[in-house]
Amino acid sequence: MNAAPAVLLEARSLARHYVVSRGMLRRKGLVRALDGVSFVMREGETLAVVGESGCGKSTLARQVTMIERPTSGELRLHGEDVAHAARSTLKRLRPQVQMVFQNPYASLNPRKKVGTLLEEPLAINTDLDSSARRAAARAMMARVGLRPEHYRRYPHMFSGGQRQRIAVARALMLDPRLVVADEPLSALDVSIQAQVLNLLMDLQQATGVAYLFISHNLQVVRHIADAVAVMYLGKIVEQGAKETVFDRPMHPYTRALLASTPKLRSAALRLADARQRDGGASRRERITLKGELPSPLNPPSGCTFHKRCPYAIERCARANEFAPTNNGL
Ligand SMILES: Nc1ncnc2c1ncn2[C@@H]1O[C@H](COP(=O)(O)OP(=O)(O)O)[C@@H](O)[C@H]1O
Ligand SMILES: [Mg+2]
Repeated sequence: MNAAPAVLLEARSLARHYVVSRGMLRRKGLVRALDGVSFVMREGETLAVVGESGCGKSTLARQVTMIERPTSGELRLHGEDVAHAARSTLKRLRPQVQMVFQNPYASLNPRKKVGTLLEEPLAINTDLDSSARRAAARAMMARVGLRPEHYRRYPHMFSGGQRQRIAVARALMLDPRLVVADEPLSALDVSIQAQVLNLLMDLQQATGVAYLFISHNLQVVRHIADAVAVMYLGKIVEQGAKETVFDRPMHPYTRALLASTPKLRSAALRLADARQRDGGASRRERITLKGELPSPLNPPSGCTFHKRCPYAIERCARANEFAPTNNGL
């Protein structure tokens, strides 16, 4: 049996809180955008992070890419804790983690040609001379399916899908070990989402890069992920191997997310349905979420999901006794 790939990234009780002032009296409040998450990523693996808008996915992305410093907890990249690292250490580690943003219309500087956009990370972070940088940029363009003549063009001359190819190419120029992709397909036409998704998967095969893939599209996640983490109000409520999370979801929130994706419903909930039938119940399980996502400024007591949970009982408002993790963390 092959040994599991080495650990690339490990988060332990990672938190990022924001102080905000609110109301006319400008009283200070604390947004617990990321509220103690723990997970492990291995080399070359894709961890998908799913959950409703506002649950803390982009905040997690900003910690992992070292754009912000976490409020507390640990975040280890190849064993080095970037949450507490000196600036010089961060400078050395940052090139290993690159980011692809949702909107390729905003993330590429419109005044720079494709060639310049791709060579810039090399100019800043390496000693390569201009001809070596040009050669590397041209090689990367071929890899992501851009044509040689695109080298001298500006971003506005490209469609959204082509622009996202440029953004992916730029992210890979420094040969990172991890790419954080925050909803990288959401701004693209449905017709070209699959092309960019396949490109990401091909590039992973070729380079062994790992992806922290943030998405609310569970069909896409089912396609690309090795492992899945489900976030709710700044916390991971369930995580595990993709098959486990999709086929045997434990948390009612995960089940509700799966149930709201029609094409996944049957497959994902077949097992749960069968189990219920085995238990003598003939009722089909179809969890739908009640109400809105509560504010992370003022999260509910106890289990923060209890106000929307169909199984909530009185005790849930006091304590969170349900903490499923499918992968032994
Ligand atoms: N810089 C910030 N200051 C205050 N609140 C923030 C900041 N960034 C994010 N938040 C809040 O943290 C929560 C999580 O946001 P975000 O990570 O963007 O969620 P997601 O990406 O899952 O939609 C939201 O309630 C958001 O309003
Ligand atoms: Mg976001």
